[in-house]
Amino acid sequence: GNAKELIRRLPKAELHLHIEGSLEPDMVFALAARNGIDLPYASQQELMKRYDFKDLQSFLDLYYQATAVLLTEEDFFDLTWAYLKKCQADRVVHTEIFFDPQSHTSRGVPFAVVIGGIRRALHMAERELGVTSRLIMCFLRHLPAADAFATWKMAAPFLNQIDGVGLDSSERDFPPGLFREVFALARAAGLQTVAHAGEEGPPAYIREAIDLLQVARIDHGVRITEAPQLLAEVAERKIPLTVCPLSNVRLRVYDTMDTHPILALLDQGVRVMVNSDDPAYFGGYVNANYEALIDALAPTPEQLIALVKNSFLSSFLDEASKHSWL
Ligand code: ADE
Ligand code: ZN
Repeated sequence: GNAKELIRRLPKAELHLHIEGSLEPDMVFALAARNGIDLPYASQQELMKRYDFKDLQSFLDLYYQATAVLLTEEDFFDLTWAYLKKCQADRVVHTEIFFDPQSHTSRGVPFAVVIGGIRRALHMAERELGVTSRLIMCFLRHLPAADAFATWKMAAPFLNQIDGVGLDSSERDFPPGLFREVFALARAAGLQTVAHAGEEGPPAYIREAIDLLQVARIDHGVRITEAPQLLAEVAERKIPLTVCPLSNVRLRVYDTMDTHPILALLDQGVRVMVNSDDPAYFGGYVNANYEALIDALAPTPEQLIALVKNSFLSSFLDEASKHSWL
């Protein structure tokens, strides 16, 4: 209908996208063949049968396993380029993407290979697709803070190619405060900071990410609905929540899309917007997320426009570029 047409037509920004989560089943098989890797699934269909997740961890287990096909600079280029073509198709004109270096360096893939391939695609997309970008390096929170620190050291020669640091992977029992020192180093180096919090973990983790990591944005943050006072503060301070509707339903944070709180948060003045998280696994890219919302929650055109505006307002673009899209 009209709402879906409006969304398809509007320029949008995406602020929560794991590049490894854009690895589609056909590319898993193509890269495995190119690299001579044996996969534990006989076909794309058999792989996709495993996309029936019961929680965040059941997804992460498969997500890390599939990254094993990514070995060369060309692999990281092809992965990133395929995602950027989806951006072009969805009218996503600006994207701020995450990568998980530890999931690659732990397999012996050099940091330079990972960031080289990703950066080459981002640069080419700016020229050829008109898609601008930022790159955010995430630390895996299920691994010790010492590993994050070692990753920070490894990234030192590439800091001019990294715009921010983030925190992802298994949330429960891994509070943000564990990573306060490495986040302080990143801030001192002039990088932006963000963290996943309040996806499966409690609102207290959102509090910690704000107070101890001093993040500019919270990734997910939907469990803030359980903490009205924190919600009021986040609204007042305009701290963005990068919400991912299809992800939340596929990882069973919410049973169905019609109980998703994104519009309630928007109406309470929280700076929320729509993102795809791991689109190859969760049923689609940015427009598919909007379409699912439209079908389940019937947002008004004003609400849709507010979500799209928030995507630019919450970005790390400079003020002039932000406002050129508003
Ligand atoms: N890594 C990739 N997707 C993630 C998610 N939704 N939450 C935490 N870590 C992730
Ligand atoms: Zn995420």
